[in-house]
Amino acid sequence: MSPDLHRYPPINPRCPHLLHGGDYNPEQWLDSPKILDEDFRLMKLAHVNAMTVGVFSWAALEPQEGVFVFDWLDRIMDRLAEAGMFAVLATPSGARPAWMSRTYPQVLRVAENRLRNLPGQRHNHCFTSPVYREKCRLINTALAHRYKDHPALLVWHVSNEYSGQCHCDLCQQAFRDWLRRRYGDSLDALNKAWWTAFWSRTFTAWEQIESPSGRGEKSLIGLNLDWRRFVVDQTVDFLRAEIAPLKRITPAVPVTTNMMGAHPTMNYWKFAPELDVIANDIYPPWHGAGDNLPLAAHVAFVHDLMRSLKGRPFMLMESTPSTTNWQEVSKLKRPGMHRLASLQAVAHGADTVQYFQWRKGRGASEQFHGAVVDHAGHEQTRVFRDVAEVGEVLAKLDDLVGTVTAAEVAILMDWENRWALEEIQAVRKQKGYMETCGDHHRPFWSMGIATDVIDAGGDLSKYKLVAAPMLFMLRDGVAERIEKFVAAGGTFVATYLTGQVDASALCFLGGFPGPLRKVMGIWVEETDGLYDADANTLVPAAGNELGLAGNYQVREICDLVHAETAAVVATYGGDFYAGRPAVTVNRFGQGQAWYIATRSEYAFLADFYGRLAGALKLRRALEAPLPEGVSACVRTDGRREFLFLLNFNAAGRIVPLGAGRYRDVLTGREIKGQAELGVYGSAVLERIT
Ligand code: GLA
Ligand code: ZN
Repeated sequence: MSPDLHRYPPINPRCPHLLHGGDYNPEQWLDSPKILDEDFRLMKLAHVNAMTVGVFSWAALEPQEGVFVFDWLDRIMDRLAEAGMFAVLATPSGARPAWMSRTYPQVLRVAENRLRNLPGQRHNHCFTSPVYREKCRLINTALAHRYKDHPALLVWHVSNEYSGQCHCDLCQQAFRDWLRRRYGDSLDALNKAWWTAFWSRTFTAWEQIESPSGRGEKSLIGLNLDWRRFVVDQTVDFLRAEIAPLKRITPAVPVTTNMMGAHPTMNYWKFAPELDVIANDIYPPWHGAGDNLPLAAHVAFVHDLMRSLKGRPFMLMESTPSTTNWQEVSKLKRPGMHRLASLQAVAHGADTVQYFQWRKGRGASEQFHGAVVDHAGHEQTRVFRDVAEVGEVLAKLDDLVGTVTAAEVAILMDWENRWALEEIQAVRKQKGYMETCGDHHRPFWSMGIATDVIDAGGDLSKYKLVAAPMLFMLRDGVAERIEKFVAAGGTFVATYLTGQVDASALCFLGGFPGPLRKVMGIWVEETDGLYDADANTLVPAAGNELGLAGNYQVREICDLVHAETAAVVATYGGDFYAGRPAVTVNRFGQGQAWYIATRSEYAFLADFYGRLAGALKLRRALEAPLPEGVSACVRTDGRREFLFLLNFNAAGRIVPLGAGRYRDVLTGREIKGQAELGVYGSAVLERIT
């Protein structure tokens, strides 16, 4: 184990345990004291220790403008503390009370078509509105003063799943101010960055600029990208405004907001520095068509992203104890799956397992969403027993708190790059960026090799291998850092559609992959977009250094490459570019830069990364090979090592353990040689040294 590893403090040192709990909405049951009594009886039975309260409570906390009512929340907070539990206390800005939308319609969002939304829904507020910001400041201040010394207060849960955008006049003005800062007050610089000589789009005054709209401008890629960046920055600015009173009044209480995984529009790297701990909501549709393995790999990718955002344990803030009510089909989790999915999050670095929701409401749109407590109202349900079991398991894992999963591999997934690929009209409409990032992550997941998910701004120097699929956009400095990484001995993997545009989506001149051309040792002359029915083959060169043999099918995107200083490892088998390079490697300084010029079937990536992992001697959770569909992850403080074995197959599996001896943390039994996992089985083993 690396000596530099260590253990992070718990999320809040006041609770040195993994957290277990969920979204609790007592404000829906204030006229049913018996139900509230039952809740507290059931919480004990479910082994929960932290309940999330207040997420959508604004109307209960401020029923009339300026009239605050805290007595109901006081009672809940007191009861939590009396029972030895904690509160993850939310600020209520995710949904506004009706009086506010009436009195101040300007807090409501304006859609892209420039029509203001009607009152209703949640997440329907303008992030610029000074009125909304002030109302949030007042209630956040009141909450912080009220509970600053309360023994139950553990973590601030700011708002809920920030997202969306507003096109009101105030947001338009804020966008123009943002642009002035970005372009140093120079319209000329903006016109150049957006290539506005195209279609006579040149701006001659800042007031002429508007947010992109289907009724107006959508053809300037630079404008579209800047608008997306502005929306994130404005959201983060709003988050900062919400946090300010909390930090002022309760500086020791950690702050988070719940994210939505690899969400399409929210660039979470911009949120991370504002937060003390990352929190995520995830609802995988287990047991869909086919087997669970691609989904399990995707979920692992999202957990890895969440851990990587701060390089330390994160919170699984929301998951469902059974089903959601918003997916196409609400399929029940099969026995074992709840524990497996919960431990999967912990294996990848979660220090909490929390749910949406504690109790099913009687009405409104989430009445049939899965919950710990069903409409039946008692603990004699399969779901309740599953949750209680997870609670018992988590209670045995105190020693894990604050430990990390250290990675030698990083997958580079960059939000701005993703947006550029979506905006650009070329090659194919659906370019499949996220799927491709997942496909490059999955081989490591299958081999039990810990993997971080970083963005183009991330530190590369701590990794042995960085794979950056489809890194189409190279912002300033990125190519230089990649070059430095390779020169210093790193292994870098790039693919088709790399290095074509800069941060403004202006194409690089002088040959793709632009500023990466030297380190990759290639020139990409053309890119072929294939129809879904088309295919080609990838033919490994005889005696290639990875020992790859046999042909692989390729599809959708094929770069036509000239190897300059790079060696050719595989070629195309067909079409007019048969024999031209399909995979190359360039020795550069102490390192190597690989180029995969085409989208291959998954089997190629599995073989390619399998060979590379062997050559680079990448650290694995287990030396012995893993059965397919069993993932293995380690969390360690550098001294003690905890091994998670997770079986996503609908059948039992035997996992060879190699020479190590282990103690099953959950049963206390010593294990060596092999571990047996049942259907959707999961185990946590501590290595005996
Ligand atoms: C989101 C929200 C919750 C709830 C769940 C339902 O994650 O944050 O309030 O609506 O979805 O799955
Ligand atoms: Zn607005």
